[in-house]
Amino acid sequence: MAAVRWSHPGTWLLFSLLVAPHIHVVVSLEPITTGFTIVAAMALTGYLSSEIYCGWLSECCQVNKPFDSTALEDDLTEKLFGQHLAHEMIYKSLTKFLSNENPRKPLALILYGRTGTGKNLVSKIITENVFDLGEKSKFVHLFVSTLHFPHDNLITTYKDQLQSWIRGNSSECARSIFIFDEMEKLHPGIIDAIKPFLDHSNNINGVSYRKAIFIFISNAGGDLISRMMPLIFNSGKCREDLKLKDVEDELYDDLYNNRNSGFWHSGLIEKNLIDYFVPFLPLEFRHVMKCVLAELRLRGLHKDERLAYRVAIEMTYVPKDTKLFSDKGCKTVAAKLDLIL
Ligand SMILES: *[C@@H]1O[C@H](CO)[C@@H](O)[C@H](O)[C@H]1NC(C)=O
Repeated sequence: MAAVRWSHPGTWLLFSLLVAPHIHVVVSLEPITTGFTIVAAMALTGYLSSEIYCGWLSECCQVNKPFDSTALEDDLTEKLFGQHLAHEMIYKSLTKFLSNENPRKPLALILYGRTGTGKNLVSKIITENVFDLGEKSKFVHLFVSTLHFPHDNLITTYKDQLQSWIRGNSSECARSIFIFDEMEKLHPGIIDAIKPFLDHSNNINGVSYRKAIFIFISNAGGDLISRMMPLIFNSGKCREDLKLKDVEDELYDDLYNNRNSGFWHSGLIEKNLIDYFVPFLPLEFRHVMKCVLAELRLRGLHKDERLAYRVAIEMTYVPKDTKLFSDKGCKTVAAKLDLIL
């Protein structure tokens, strides 16, 4: 029996429990099997807590897992730079949504702004704070426009497919995360296929979507924000004084009226189905420095301000005259660091 290899540990457990409890005596010399024998014994005696089963043997859908908002706050503080608006909005919206046992609709967020400003990072932080396995969790579904929906003539097929995936995945786990990346490259019209799921309805054909999280990522609005920021600086305000209401209306118009935002005349916006429009501000030199230092820490290297300066100065800054903002945010920091090291 010991020679039999079971690909999924859960299968072995089930087998041991149901069919052959006695064979443990034979195989218990093998340490791994011994582990499962113990688990099996615990299960038999009723001590197998869902914590052990779900943490070790399998990933379970835990809809009402308690949410640790301090961990989220720490992650945002340590990893996200120069985004006081996004920081606050993500912290508040997620904490509110995840501590509500009975939300009225799924959480829908649009993260938008220039490339390299932290949109994908925030999406990663969200998945890691909801699921132990983060982006690798089977309950996280990522759709990349150029990868999943590349052909304009297949829109109808894509719409059907998308609806059936969201339906299928949500019925398997109500706490699912759907991420749509490169929204600015998505054919206008596809995204409205998910309108029914974002609505306030209790359930559609017996599936509830109210605990799901939808994240839409778009580079749209980035240029507009970059043009607005200097005006705000000139009025004597500093970056951290910037309030959402100072920029909200103009940016919202831009997303809705720009053909290349992914939300052009979108029903999601018309019907107020998006809960938060989270703007990502262009990054300045000092923020790029922080990204380099964070990258050094990630690689287990010691803090080196001079090195960080050398990397940050390698980036391109725009506009030409003032050179206020990093063209690609922190996007190429890791690669630039490799070159210098
Ligand atoms: C869940 O979504 C994925 C795409 O991320 C899809 O391939 C899969 O078929 C979906 N599962 C169900 C049960 O619909």
